[in-house]
Amino acid sequence: MNLDFQQFIPSLPYILKGIGVTLQIVFMAGILGFVLGIILSFFKISRFKLLGWIADAYTSVFRGTPLVLQLMLIYYGSPQLIGYKIDPSTAAVLSFGLNSAAYISEIIRAGILAVDKGQSEAAMALGVPYRPAMMDIILPQAMKNILPALMNEFITLTKESAIVTVIGVTDVMRRAYIVGGEKFSYFEPILIAGLIYYIMVMILTVLGKGIERRMRRSD
Ligand code: ARG
Repeated sequence: MNLDFQQFIPSLPYILKGIGVTLQIVFMAGILGFVLGIILSFFKISRFKLLGWIADAYTSVFRGTPLVLQLMLIYYGSPQLIGYKIDPSTAAVLSFGLNSAAYISEIIRAGILAVDKGQSEAAMALGVPYRPAMMDIILPQAMKNILPALMNEFITLTKESAIVTVIGVTDVMRRAYIVGGEKFSYFEPILIAGLIYYIMVMILTVLGKGIERRMRRSD
């Protein structure tokens, strides 16, 4: 194997700068996905059938088409949709957030339904109204159950974020690709990018395990 990492050392800071770009997109998309995901999950368990139907249709569309297609639709479609071209990172945050919400809503819905029925029955028997029962009794228990799945979603998001390279966002992936083009050798910089993604995912994993352990302490 013919590997020469020496010539890529000067390009390392350039590639590493992409970590900030990647993290920023993942962080903002994660928040958007989480908030929208909670709302959609409430729709799904709501008594009002119409709300559940809307949320199910939403999930079906966003889960049923490729993320890279959604990204391109939002980016290239923005002039026709809203009248002006949004910048690539905004398109990335929007598409990842909207896509993630579909998955997160399912995770949260399952988590809420998995909380023992006795909990809501006990709340009802004690005269606790729906909202506080949900907020203070059901949701905290659901959160503990869904944490591993939620962490999984953020890991997926971190790795999937590499597709922003197709609309020109200079994240880790695109920077590795650019460096490869400059040096006429793609193998090494893409290996470096792979290592960076792997380390980011490992950090997320450790973080998730830490939070999980903390939450279990109350058991
Ligand atoms: N590659 C898959 C797609 O294009 C991933 C979707 C994103 N997954 C997720 N859990 N947010 O559909």
